Amino acid sequence: MFFLLSTPTFLSSCLLLLLLHHQEEEDQTQQQQTRTHSQLLRARKERPPLPRLVDGAPPGQRDPHRDAFASSYEAATAIVMGRFKTPRLLWSLRRLLGLGRKRALKRELAVLKDFAAKVVNEKRRDHAIGTGGGRDLLSMVMAEGDFSDEFLRDLVLNYVLAGRDTTSSAMSWFFWLVSSRPEVGRRIVGETESVRARHGSSAGSMFTLEELREMSYLHAALSEAMRLYPPVALETRDCAEGDGDVLPDGTVVGKGVIVMHSPYAMGRMESIWGEDCGEFRPERWLDPDGVFQPRSPYEYPVFHGGPRMCLGKDMVYIQMKAVVASVMERFVVDVVVEEEEREREPEPELGLVLRMKKGLPVRIRAR
Ligand code: HEM
Repeated sequence: MFFLLSTPTFLSSCLLLLLLHHQEEEDQTQQQQTRTHSQLLRARKERPPLPRLVDGAPPGQRDPHRDAFASSYEAATAIVMGRFKTPRLLWSLRRLLGLGRKRALKRELAVLKDFAAKVVNEKRRDHAIGTGGGRDLLSMVMAEGDFSDEFLRDLVLNYVLAGRDTTSSAMSWFFWLVSSRPEVGRRIVGETESVRARHGSSAGSMFTLEELREMSYLHAALSEAMRLYPPVALETRDCAEGDGDVLPDGTVVGKGVIVMHSPYAMGRMESIWGEDCGEFRPERWLDPDGVFQPRSPYEYPVFHGGPRMCLGKDMVYIQMKAVVASVMERFVVDVVVEEEEREREPEPELGLVLRMKKGLPVRIRAR
């Protein structure tokens, strides 16, 4: 099968897995290596990871609301990025002449808010008639107190936006890096097999939390991939109040000043990671017993540090490990590139999230 792993959501990754299982069963008597020119995943990318947030809608079904959400999400982030890239003077001039995109942004945001409000309304209705379930995030938050519709709507939006492209970006770069280091792939599969053997579980069954937690090497490989390609490659902070702020080195940041820092650049600094900082080497994260050793978030700010650190960090590692281990134990993911491009890095595209400009074409075959 041929896929374009472009910027699918995490859900797309799950869909990939489900599809592969399904396809494998259907194709038992057919060729094992089918090349289907399909942009299936690119189409699937439109679906935000809502079943995780608010269980319910089966991921395979098309939903026009979700499609509208997806295109508004793309449009809104493009407008916001455009604002970052345009010099302030030019931006103000455009606004003055009524050429700005403020109205367009407002329209796209309205679609996003409507979608999230609909999710909340449906959940309230389900709870009222006793079919709300309770294991999804939204239900759990609602059970904690009497929150306003607006609060819950913003919570839904926040989680969808925070988790949508970040995870898929990490996974695309991960699979590309692993394709360049086959021994890393072999170690991941070896680790999965020994975890399975220890717990007496069989390939293809759902991993338990405990099994996933024992996958130190995979944890290291994912961390290493995000060191080189952090999904949030550039971060900004705006000094909004008071007389300004002072950075640890004494630099004064006045009110209204924007400070940027780059997890991408920090991930490639020799002073932090040593001479081999440019190499993809998961072993750097492991102690001599093979146990994962986390780094300070101030050296590895991929999930940010301090009080506004990513709230999805632990969950996202579990998600990514579940998908990678489940895919890799049964399938081989080959990156499909021309011979002369084999060594070349896919062109990155800096938006709010660091994506691969043209996606990552891969061919999947049974192991
Ligand atoms: C590989 C995937 C992810 C990466 C690299 C990542 C990274 C980050 C970063 C750098 C921030 C700080 C942004 C800033 O303040 O400028 C952040 C914030 C946040 N993330 Fe993530 N994230 C990921 C996935 C997720 C997921 C899956 C969720 C939840 C479903 C999530 C929830 C959040 C939330 C709620 C915040 C805001 C925290 C706050 O401001 O208090 N993230 N994330």
